[in-house]
Amino acid sequence: SMAERQGLKKGRLALMAVSTASYFAPRLLGEFSHKYPGIEVSLKVTNREQVLAGLADNLADLYILGQPPEDIEVEAKPFMCNPLVILAAPDHPLAGQVDIPLARLAKEPWLMREPGSGTRMAVERLFEDEGIEFRPRMDLGSNEAIKQAILAGLGIAVMSTHSLTLNPPGQFAVLKARGFPILRQWYAVYPAGRPLSAVAATFLDYLLAQDAAQARCAAP
Ligand code: PGA
Repeated sequence: SMAERQGLKKGRLALMAVSTASYFAPRLLGEFSHKYPGIEVSLKVTNREQVLAGLADNLADLYILGQPPEDIEVEAKPFMCNPLVILAAPDHPLAGQVDIPLARLAKEPWLMREPGSGTRMAVERLFEDEGIEFRPRMDLGSNEAIKQAILAGLGIAVMSTHSLTLNPPGQFAVLKARGFPILRQWYAVYPAGRPLSAVAATFLDYLLAQDAAQARCAAP
């Protein structure tokens, strides 16, 4: 039977994923492991720079990134939408406003992920492309630390909507900023020209079979 065939799939699957993936990867892996109990999965969650270093050193079978690498030849398969928004405390003065220009947001204190973070790179690129100076106030090493700092009134931050999965609605204000949300994709990445193991190919097929509506990345 189908179930027997799935049960017979055995082997190891090593994954490396950027930090924001910690909000959805375990759920995907739960379903996958239930379907393929013979496959032993490990997931290392770290920032973009470390994931790219892992890719260069061949530390995993598949890598999950918010943006494919630019200087390594890879296959990059988008499998899910990743909207980036600007989060603020619910009582922030900009919370009720619409069409907020980036130049206005630049005057706010910005809470930043650590150097090496893909999220940080996205924020820096955004301001750079518009030629606007902004005010990084503090570097924090994790999305959760940034969320706590926002609630403590320390500033605002760009973050994936996936990071709000376990937060009650209304706990944060999503600022209605011009040009936001930035609609990115989650990518499954592996080195070009090297065939995937049977187990990794099975997981990639499973990822790519995720809800097509999610993968399309339409504006919310
Ligand atoms: P980060 O990556 O966890 O390194 O910020 C997230 C992303 O690139 O979307």
